[in-house]
Amino acid sequence: MTIHRVGVALEPAYDIHIGAGALDLVPEMLSERRRVAIVSQSAIADLYLDSIRSGLANSEVFLIGDGEEAKSLSTVEGLCRNFAEFGLLRGDVVVALGGGVVGDTAGFAASVYYRGVDVLQVPTSLLAQVDAAIGGKTAVNIPEGKNLVGAFHQPIAVAVDTDTLASLSPREYRSGLGEIAKYALISDFGISGTGLIELLNNSTDLVLARDPAVLADLVAMCCEIKAQVVAADPYERTGIRATLNLGHTLAHALETRGGYELTHGEAVSIGLIFAVELAEAAGRISAETAKRYCSVASSLGLPLEVPGGSEVKAEDLLAIMRRDKKASGGLTFVLPGKDGLQLVDDPPTDALAYAFRCVGVGG
Ligand code: GLY
Repeated sequence: MTIHRVGVALEPAYDIHIGAGALDLVPEMLSERRRVAIVSQSAIADLYLDSIRSGLANSEVFLIGDGEEAKSLSTVEGLCRNFAEFGLLRGDVVVALGGGVVGDTAGFAASVYYRGVDVLQVPTSLLAQVDAAIGGKTAVNIPEGKNLVGAFHQPIAVAVDTDTLASLSPREYRSGLGEIAKYALISDFGISGTGLIELLNNSTDLVLARDPAVLADLVAMCCEIKAQVVAADPYERTGIRATLNLGHTLAHALETRGGYELTHGEAVSIGLIFAVELAEAAGRISAETAKRYCSVASSLGLPLEVPGGSEVKAEDLLAIMRRDKKASGGLTFVLPGKDGLQLVDDPPTDALAYAFRCVGVGG
């Protein structure tokens, strides 16, 4: 099967290699390296380590724990000590083999070990393949908040093997589809010519059935969008990269409040509906456009409303959103409009109330 190659036009530039069997490219990519430290988790290592390790002369594997708890400074310290014992030097390389937890933690360890060693990102979850592994954001959590300690550390390359998606649980897969729905909206408003909405609309059944060829195209289109956005604003300084947070203001508030048992992508899906309805109520887009976008999320089987939302007070969610670390004061949303996606501060109260009703909050 074809391997798509998407370039990320930074200095230095790097490539994202996407397709079935892309894991087999890893040994060749690292053939010149003296030592390779592979960071992974046990369930992922059981499945994919052999494909990578068989062609590497001097590699060592370091496993970290599962879940957000593993994204900690103590895990980073442990990894750095492992690297030192292994004899990893500045010209050597770290491989992050896994989902977002591995990519963020191993990426951050690579960014600080020896004041920065190279990292190859090898994402195995749909969320990481279309988002976390691309663009160099790395971070761990502290008790005061998620991803509060981190660094921008671009990978030397990203190897995205879409065959790994076959092993995801239905919920993990759906979580990735939430981010893909976000890219569909971004592509329509900011980045032209990817055809993502058309692919999702025309091949919904194949997407849901994880058809290998469709998956490779789908992931490649999302990587193309992310690559363009990252190249335009690598350090999230101009507002362009912040548009990747479309749907995330409400999603983060739902995740912070807790108690919904939503995955990240499910929360993003509800956040997208909220943003689109808010944009419509604020007169930024037509009702027809809003409906078209909502139908992308619904056809992918993503949630459209906050579970048990009638018991939730909009004011509680607004209070959490005001504390959002990306807010520049007051409430900030990424909203579509006639000039594309923009950061919008403090939308009208009645538009907010309408958007909350659309996602079932407040009865
Ligand atoms: N996940 C958002 C970003 O990479 O900027």
